[in-house]
Amino acid sequence: MNIHKGMSRYSDGADQEVRGDTITPERYTSQEFMEAENEKLWPKVWHLGGVLADLEETGDYIRHNFGRESIIMVKQSDGSVKAFFNVCPHRGNRLVLGDVGGADRISCAYHGWQFDPDGTLVHVQDPDDFPNGNPCGKVKLSEIRCETWGPFIFWNMDKDAAPLLEWLAPLPDKLKEYGLDNWVRAFALSCDCEFNWKLIRDNFNESYHLPTIHPELSTFINDGLSDTEFAMYDSGHNSMWMKGHQATTRQHFEAVPTPLDDVARSWDVDPEAYNGRPNEIREAIIAAKRKLGPGRGYSNYDQMTDQQLVDYFHCTLWPNLTITMSPEQCQILRTEPHPTDPAKCVFQHWCLYPPVEGMEVVQGTPIGDIPLEHDAVVRHSTYGDGISLGFVADQDLSIGTSQQQGLNSRGFHGSILSYQEKRIQRFHELLNDAVYGGPPPCDREG
Ligand code: FES
Ligand SMILES: [Fe+2]
Repeated sequence: MNIHKGMSRYSDGADQEVRGDTITPERYTSQEFMEAENEKLWPKVWHLGGVLADLEETGDYIRHNFGRESIIMVKQSDGSVKAFFNVCPHRGNRLVLGDVGGADRISCAYHGWQFDPDGTLVHVQDPDDFPNGNPCGKVKLSEIRCETWGPFIFWNMDKDAAPLLEWLAPLPDKLKEYGLDNWVRAFALSCDCEFNWKLIRDNFNESYHLPTIHPELSTFINDGLSDTEFAMYDSGHNSMWMKGHQATTRQHFEAVPTPLDDVARSWDVDPEAYNGRPNEIREAIIAAKRKLGPGRGYSNYDQMTDQQLVDYFHCTLWPNLTITMSPEQCQILRTEPHPTDPAKCVFQHWCLYPPVEGMEVVQGTPIGDIPLEHDAVVRHSTYGDGISLGFVADQDLSIGTSQQQGLNSRGFHGSILSYQEKRIQRFHELLNDAVYGGPPPCDREG
């Protein structure tokens, strides 16, 4: 049991009660738990399916393979987007086999049935040979909910799910000043991993691992506990504001460390002037960004709060989506389950950037300098084969395989969580609610 009582690391009004459910290791390893998730969790939640920039013309589509399912999102003639299960109603062949594409009609490769972009069957071979008459106009692709937020398209298999914006609350509100609508997805990376999807969820629900797994971040992100604003929302989503342009208060720095000194100089702030008080440079950079940002093409700075201008807003959405914001970068990070193996998952990392007049290359992205254009880099790899998923993401992924191996041990009996890891506890209790309808069986047996 993990009882989190007596102390809170969470902001006023943004803490949540937890029961203290045991976080059992089986949830990361057992086929049975994976099947329960397939049955009771995944069909009930909103999934980020793609970005609107991939859908220019009527009939353009994005395919999203998710576990054993495959979904297509298709642009309609009125500009809206519909989502369908990617399966032919004739005899169940998967319809679309590419990640993105476009056609006037969606055609099945097996017997040639054809569907309009709105999912209506419009052509079959031998239309008079069906006992109930020609199926055209009567048969449709199996449609599911599809809604958009900013540049993103989401789908949901649950017809009764809350509308997307309600589901995402309060994050669309908290993110609105960034002006995400016209941001450009410059890369979309993914890889197959040898661990359960929840290991990375747990990892993103805490910052306890920063000093050990990401030591380099300590020089420009302050992960000191009392400086970080943690929040858990009623919707099941969590967030964490970490002060940026400030070194960690876990260590003593006499001068502004590298690379923060270079960042300061890029905003015409002299780091030497902050010797002996390096953390005060954050305020100076806020002022400099306010003054110089709009002239440098950052038209979105004007709407932002001081906090948004320099800090990192890390949002972990229930159940499997992470959005990490800075004024110049929106990172999407998530894991999705393998179709059949609980000890595997797919990790995805996208980065979006605001359009900045005159900027053709985004410098210093997690995979280096890349063109500021839609999907300048798209790739899928196997984790461990030497292809980077982004510098910091590589570090996070590095722990997944050995943790998965450890969780198989008879000697591990369930996680022991600190106060700052309470978001992990909440995540698993929401999961237990979805899968068991309450605490796990081992906590009910008394
Ligand atoms: S299964 Fe698609 S046309 Fe027959
Ligand atoms: Fe991390």
